[in-house]
Amino acid sequence: MVLAACFFQAAMPVSPMSKLMRQMLTFLDVEKQNIAQNKPVQEFPKSFEKINTAKLTEGKKPSADHGAYIQNFQRSLTRYYESINTPQRASTFNLLVSSCITCHEHECPGPIQRIEKNLVK
Ligand code: HEC
Repeated sequence: MVLAACFFQAAMPVSPMSKLMRQMLTFLDVEKQNIAQNKPVQEFPKSFEKINTAKLTEGKKPSADHGAYIQNFQRSLTRYYESINTPQRASTFNLLVSSCITCHEHECPGPIQRIEKNLVK
């Protein structure tokens, strides 16, 4: 599958942030299936901390509220892990997916539809 970029990005190398984001999307994908099949959660993705420092594609600028969106994402991830054995698992998972989308609305609209597909209905 070819992943569409956020913005026009011809012949640009894949940035560390993009690589991390692809892993994050795969994480959501797997986790959505785990929820549907009542399977245990994946090991806590410590590598997602790199969101704080990973370099963006050259020329891309984070939004003014970049740090707040990161905090929101990290808090949502922690909440999800706190609730994985409760009936709230699906709703905290959806909040995690929403935390991705909130940042993307301001920084990178391209992949929003692909991220939204992971919402648990
Ligand atoms: C703090 C803001 C922020 C959050 C939170 C965030 N993203 Fe991103 N995302 C970005 C930015 C900025 C890019 C562009 C990165 C670049 O080009 O270097 C990106 C790129 C992507 C891409 C495209 C990667 C590619 O192929 O180039 C995907 C897919 C993606 N994000 C998925 C997610 C998912 C899934 C989550 C939540 C688990 C998430 N993002 C959370 C800001 C964010």
